[in-house]
Amino acid sequence: VAPLTTVIGAVMTIRSGKKKTFLDVRSRDGFSVQVVCLTPELPRLTVQSYVRIVGKQCALPAGVYSQQTYEIQVSSEVEGSSFSVLSLADEDTTQHCPPDASPAVRLDQRLFLFRDPRFILTMRMIDHLSKAFRCHFRAIGSVEVTPPSFTGVECEGGATLFKLDHPGRSTTEPVPAFLTQSSQFALEYVLPGVGKCCHCLAPSFRAEHSLTRRHLTEFMHGECEWEGVMSMDEHVQHLREMLVGITSFFLRLAEKELVEYGAFERVRKILVDIQGGVTLTHREMIEYCRTHDIYKDEEKKEHFGDRDDVPEKQERAFVDSVGKVVFLTHFPREFKSFYMALDPVDPSYVLGCDVLVPTVGEVVGSGVREQDFERLTQRLVEAGLKPDDYREYLALRRSGFRMTSGMGLGMGRLLCWYLEIFSIRDATAFPRFPGYLRP
Ligand code: 4AD
Ligand code: MG
Repeated sequence: VAPLTTVIGAVMTIRSGKKKTFLDVRSRDGFSVQVVCLTPELPRLTVQSYVRIVGKQCALPAGVYSQQTYEIQVSSEVEGSSFSVLSLADEDTTQHCPPDASPAVRLDQRLFLFRDPRFILTMRMIDHLSKAFRCHFRAIGSVEVTPPSFTGVECEGGATLFKLDHPGRSTTEPVPAFLTQSSQFALEYVLPGVGKCCHCLAPSFRAEHSLTRRHLTEFMHGECEWEGVMSMDEHVQHLREMLVGITSFFLRLAEKELVEYGAFERVRKILVDIQGGVTLTHREMIEYCRTHDIYKDEEKKEHFGDRDDVPEKQERAFVDSVGKVVFLTHFPREFKSFYMALDPVDPSYVLGCDVLVPTVGEVVGSGVREQDFERLTQRLVEAGLKPDDYREYLALRRSGFRMTSGMGLGMGRLLCWYLEIFSIRDATAFPRFPGYLRP
């Protein structure tokens, strides 16, 4: 007599025939297997219940598709064969968040969205994307850093700072602290020691009050810092190679899921589009908007001024109209952070570079770092910050500055581009935004 096989797993589908019940069970070992119950009297069973099955392993009948070449037959006629329900799921478990649920339901019933086959694919791809990011930096010999989430200073402007009380030396005097907006400074501190490049993959926090399709209050931020960057062109070259590297690794790691999702060809094309990306200055973007009916104020048909910041909506209209990946450089200094290097040709501009992509807009914020101690101190003061709070950051410039540049990549936004997902909330397992903290 052949020995019996035990399967412990979750019931994914149930089909009842006249004499037999067919189950698709996802075993605890990660594979799916067909179970045929020949026993007429089955215990009450629902989809998503967790079961333990002991049965006979038999060849799959011809024409039946399954991940396995066999099926498990459970029958009261076979000694030792059994069927037990370890945890019975509620009848309506699968109805809380059906595949066509609205965005509101997808948020309200998040727990059940985690059982949705397409969202499971998305979560697997989030995992692959993190790995692809790390694979790229590993391949170039970069060192991964674990940065802190609590900081004493701001990095990206006071408007989006999360303030909190950090324990102080005494129990009565807490120290004012922030949740980090970016791990850039941590990477800059580590780089001189390790050399070449260092990177991190960590959450960043922004108290954004905007309820947009691409903003969260907590997001997964891939960041890096490169050494010895001598020009804006070299910096853009780094960005391009990085995006090519990450996307190539992603295509390899996520191939199976991408094919199932129907996005493999799209990401293949994205890889080509990154290689064919164009470099434009902020001034050229403004010029383009003026000649292509992209307005600062649509109703009044008011054009952008030379030094205007272009808001999210118009920025997306711009990159969609260009239809290419845009490496956008040379921003007016007044709307970028103090640490960005001034353009030697026109110091009223900075050597920053945002990467804009069709359908999403900005996915990368980056730039060459200001190298000059005096100028950096002055710009800190101009930004209303206290040089003493930034003494370590300033000291970097006097201890053999490595002529660095760096970048921050929004992982959720990148996935939106890869998979053509409308909102970052659907590209993030646990989105956080104003008014939403569950589960
Ligand atoms: O452009 P940002 O603010 O740049 C920085 O934080 C730099 N310190 C990075 C660096 O040089 N190390 O943010 C970088 C990227 C953006 O391009 C965007 O993709 C993402 O982070 N991002 C957000 N993603 C989701 N929700 C938000 N609220 C985001 N804010 C920025
Ligand atoms: Mg930015």
